[in-house]
Amino acid sequence: MCSMTELINKLKSGKALSKAEFVELINCDDKARGEMRSLAEKIRIENYGHDVYMRGLIEFTNYCKQDCYYCGIRKSNLNCDRYRLSFDDIMLCCEEGYGLGFRTFVLQGGEDAYYNDDRICRLIDGIKKKYPDCALTLSIGEKPRESYKRYFDCGADRYLLRHETASREHYQKLHPESQKFENRIRCLWDLKEIGYQVGCGFMVGSPYQTSEYIAEDLLFIRELNPQMIGIGPFIHHKDTIFRDFSDGTLEMTLKLLSIIRIMLPKVLLPATTALATIDPRGREKGILAGANVVMPNLSPVQVRKAYQLYDNKVCTGDESAQCRACLETRINSVGCRLVEARGDSKNI
Ligand code: 5AD
Ligand code: FES
Repeated sequence: MCSMTELINKLKSGKALSKAEFVELINCDDKARGEMRSLAEKIRIENYGHDVYMRGLIEFTNYCKQDCYYCGIRKSNLNCDRYRLSFDDIMLCCEEGYGLGFRTFVLQGGEDAYYNDDRICRLIDGIKKKYPDCALTLSIGEKPRESYKRYFDCGADRYLLRHETASREHYQKLHPESQKFENRIRCLWDLKEIGYQVGCGFMVGSPYQTSEYIAEDLLFIRELNPQMIGIGPFIHHKDTIFRDFSDGTLEMTLKLLSIIRIMLPKVLLPATTALATIDPRGREKGILAGANVVMPNLSPVQVRKAYQLYDNKVCTGDESAQCRACLETRINSVGCRLVEARGDSKNI
């Protein structure tokens, strides 16, 4: 048995890998990657069958006070057409989504002062009262613990906040000095303690990323043990200072999806829109590598193009119903089915 297979077996057995061992897995050859892919698919099926959950993503504001160097809606991007959806707009998105079978809504937005805690709570309350059978996920950035607690007490079930990188050194290369690594990590632990189903994650191939940094991401993920992990390739945006950096690759993203599925068999793992953007069959390949969630857009078509975190994002011209139908065909093509369920994580 070669040492790579031993390492993969060690990961599968739930034993803790060292940073050096993770680096070895991250740098493995195509043969080991294939081995991990088949194993990850098997583990996905053992835990979630052939079900793929769908989440309706509502990108409700692209105003943002943060200035992450990689992101197209960063506050310094003066070329970005800013918009925010109203309470009624958002309720209409949910109504359409509910009719299409969505049972999770994800409210995602920039850190927008207009949407203060009172307004966010009103939204949570409105959605949860009208759709008590649905899960509500927030993805609205870094907040004080008290705010997270208020949203939770209003009925929010889940929170997505990618940690972006688990290395302080790398974090400061991706963000201005004012954005602190410690605060990001504090947010994730607070969310977990409050009782949310939590999602962290990072970009694959972000500027200055090394295999060592990715190994630190995997160590952090193992420690946090979240319910969801969002990873997708970095894709440059023309109006950011990272415009000249190359994009993350399909191969590395798929490899990491498989490693994560093997490490945390019950975690929820989306095949992201960014993955679909770098490869026309990215989402399907993501599912085959171990992913089990898709997050199509429910935002009104008029605003979709303005929520461009990166260039050439797919699906910005499609109606929600078209995306639903398109995804169904795609998911079926890899032997899975889209299910109308809340799709709570089994990683508890
Ligand atoms: N490429 C890929 N992903 C990006 N994100 C932000 N900008 C980009 C980009 N240029 C990701 C970040 C963020 C999530 C909402 O989108 O990881 O947390
Ligand atoms: Fe949006 Fe295919 S998922 S058009």
